[in-house]
Amino acid sequence: SDAPLILGIESSCDETGVGIVRGNELLANTVSSSMDQHVRFGGVIPEIAARAHLETMIPTLRQALDTAGVELDDIDALAVTSGPGLSGALMVGVAAAKALAVATGKPLYAINHLVAHVGVGVLDGGELPSDLGALLVSGGHTEILKVRELTSDVELVGQTIDDAAGEAYDKVARLLGLGYPGGPAIDRIAREGNGKAIRFPRGLSLPKFVGTAEAPGKHRYDFSFSGLKTAVARSVEQYQAKGLDVPVADIAASFQEAVVDVVTKKAVMACTEHGLSTLLLGGGVAANSRLRELLAARCASAGITLRVPKPSLCTDNGAMIAALASRVVSAGVAPTGVGFATDPGQP
Ligand code: KG4
Ligand code: ZN
Repeated sequence: SDAPLILGIESSCDETGVGIVRGNELLANTVSSSMDQHVRFGGVIPEIAARAHLETMIPTLRQALDTAGVELDDIDALAVTSGPGLSGALMVGVAAAKALAVATGKPLYAINHLVAHVGVGVLDGGELPSDLGALLVSGGHTEILKVRELTSDVELVGQTIDDAAGEAYDKVARLLGLGYPGGPAIDRIAREGNGKAIRFPRGLSLPKFVGTAEAPGKHRYDFSFSGLKTAVARSVEQYQAKGLDVPVADIAASFQEAVVDVVTKKAVMACTEHGLSTLLLGGGVAANSRLRELLAARCASAGITLRVPKPSLCTDNGAMIAALASRVVSAGVAPTGVGFATDPGQP
């Protein structure tokens, strides 16, 4: 096709990503993660993440160009995550992108990480409709977005008021002695447990928070996971105080059920009430098997089309930055240039 060749750089958290796309075609998506350096701390350490980007940025760039079979000269435009994310980590990607733009004379676009999690959908399943909802669930974010137009009309409909969904998985996994990152571990062990064993609280699901469709409560589409985390901690303590074995699989399954129940219910409700035909799922927690299962079932009953990009496009990567930049370029938006600052925004 004659769509422009775009190179995107992502460095907002622990993944160094460089992706290359032409229109809706994915040519390269190289990712290097510093996760193994954070494991012993039980969470991403910003300073370590930033230093790791410094080491991996150029090798990742080289590998992406080799995979796509192109050279820097062939690239029509450069794009980079400007936020939200860890400021030190963001700065490495932004500095690299600015240097490339200055050296090559190519236009540079600053890209919002959250909207890019939605825009990446075009790389798996093609064009996105203009009545699109998005549910983003990861270690750093949990949001419902209403996306009329990727480049100009994105509305935040709801978000977490405390922990992100993935963060809750990680903290609960730690409580249960399941290691870090905790999402995949809970997903696995929950299959051996009973999700109905313990009824954990569904955050912000009480009528006073949710309201009605006609008179929405302030937190109708918002999420809260810190009360749930505390409830899991209390439950573990009660078993221990009685000298009983902690039923790890049942607690993991019941915790997971509480997260997935409220997340799927609110996402489907938001789509129905905002007249959105399609829901796109993104972020690292999109890998969760119970989330996929329940969301598919609830979308089907509500007549909503569910789109879940393949896992390598849901976790943080450079292709999502390039894919959204491709839309921005086609929409005729002027390049940001090299003068912009990072926008750490929310972690
Ligand atoms: O998108 P991501 O790779 O990085 C950011 O946080 O931006 O998401 C990582 C998060 C971690 O909290 C991890 O525990 C969670 O996604 N996660 C999962 C699963 N796989 C990864 N959570 C639940 N179930 C999973 N299968
Ligand atoms: Zn992300």
